[in-house]
Amino acid sequence: MNARSSLTVVLAAGEGTRMRSSLPKVLHPVAGQPLLAHVLHAAPHDNGSRLAVVIGPDHQEVASEVRRIRPDAETFIQRERLGTAHAVLAARAAIQRGADDLLVAFGDTPLISAETFDRMRAPLQNGAALTVLGFRAADPTGYGRLLMQGDRLVAIREQADASAEERKVTLCNAGVMAFEGRNALKILDRIGNANSKGEYYLVDAVTIVRDLGLEAVVIETSEDEVRGINTKTQLAEAEGVMQARLRKQAMAAGVTLIAPDTVYLAADTKFGKDVTIEPFVVIGPGVSIADGAVIHSFSHIVQATIGRNTSVGPYARLRPGTSLGDGAKIGNFVETKAATLEAGVKVNHLSYIGDTEIGANSNIGAGTITCNYDGFTKSKTIIGKGAFVGTNSSLVAPVKIGDGAYIGSGSVITKDVPDDAMAVERSQQSIREGGASRYREAKTRVKKPKA
Ligand code: UD1
Ligand code: CA
Repeated sequence: MNARSSLTVVLAAGEGTRMRSSLPKVLHPVAGQPLLAHVLHAAPHDNGSRLAVVIGPDHQEVASEVRRIRPDAETFIQRERLGTAHAVLAARAAIQRGADDLLVAFGDTPLISAETFDRMRAPLQNGAALTVLGFRAADPTGYGRLLMQGDRLVAIREQADASAEERKVTLCNAGVMAFEGRNALKILDRIGNANSKGEYYLVDAVTIVRDLGLEAVVIETSEDEVRGINTKTQLAEAEGVMQARLRKQAMAAGVTLIAPDTVYLAADTKFGKDVTIEPFVVIGPGVSIADGAVIHSFSHIVQATIGRNTSVGPYARLRPGTSLGDGAKIGNFVETKAATLEAGVKVNHLSYIGDTEIGANSNIGAGTITCNYDGFTKSKTIIGKGAFVGTNSSLVAPVKIGDGAYIGSGSVITKDVPDDAMAVERSQQSIREGGASRYREAKTRVKKPKA
């Protein structure tokens, strides 16, 4: 925790026209989260830190996303898009309330890390009025250039206003700035718009700091951390950088990725110990995978909780609301949605399990379909523990299959099936004895109807 208080102002009022999309730019996802979410997560979080987000006038979706991610944040609307300094001042009311450090970040720069914000605050503590985040650009075109005299930062020149000589400079402005709080508003209010675009440029803060006889310093970071996103190509580049980071983190935490470059993770994916992920797996937001689970190739998983020592796939699709108990097994070509499968449940082949609860150790045969939708409404299927559903059965919801019940192959079940208490006892016995498979036992006690 930093001893100094802070206010972070995140600028997100841009239209993002170059994305050619009806979605506001900062809501485009990287690693399963909106660009803006990454920035809001990286911004200081401790008790002494406040957050303000500046959004465009027609961007209610952005405001509700901010509320979802950081309910403590205030949003401010910038009615006219008159430049980055003008955007910061849209949050004037928050700035006036005062903070030791005023941080400014861009909503379209999602790879920025919490450590970088910390590093930028350090010089303010030692008397600097402004810290600018710089990076060495492979191609500096379009970026503001940091003009240095020795190791002193004297100005930032935007591309449009730069001389041919200045355009050769590769040390660029990342956009993130940190102001010492006491002078911040005085500096921002002095920024004018006398430049080729007639915009109020935040970068002019540097010369104003100099004119006031104060110190502006540069902190450098890697280009990868400050990639700004203006186009779909840059969005894909940022995704690549973020995925590389997430894979590295997962492996450092003990996850086995056999072919890391083929596995897609979400920024919020949670792993236990000794998890193995085979090649070509896609994990969307809201997924946790517990100790010892194996995710086989070509599985697609979103908003799902996966228990210990489970096996998923190959070719499994776990959709939102799936929860797998310890030791459960989902085989190939199985789709689940809003389904709770308790410990030891097996759905090994070719099934759709939706709006369903399945009790412990039940076995769902190949081709079983829960018919959860009758064309108008969705209904639930409840299956007890230790039940056996024969292959190619249709369970027409709403329907309840009792504990230990046995459903023959090819059944269409439209009425509730009662518990079979003795079957449950027998199956527990066989599990205790560690022997006879549930399937063999079931076969001996059910007489197949004669054809
Ligand atoms: C800006 C910097 C440039 C830097 C580059 C790094 C300025 C003047 N230029 O240029 O030095 O190298 O970022 O990526 O600061 N925004 C608003 N309201 C506005 C204008 C912008 O909210 O009126 C927001 C945008 O949504 C965006 C951010 O501010 O999130 C940056 O604006 P953008 O127009 O992308 O600036 P650049 O030209 O990239
Ligand atoms: Ca930009």
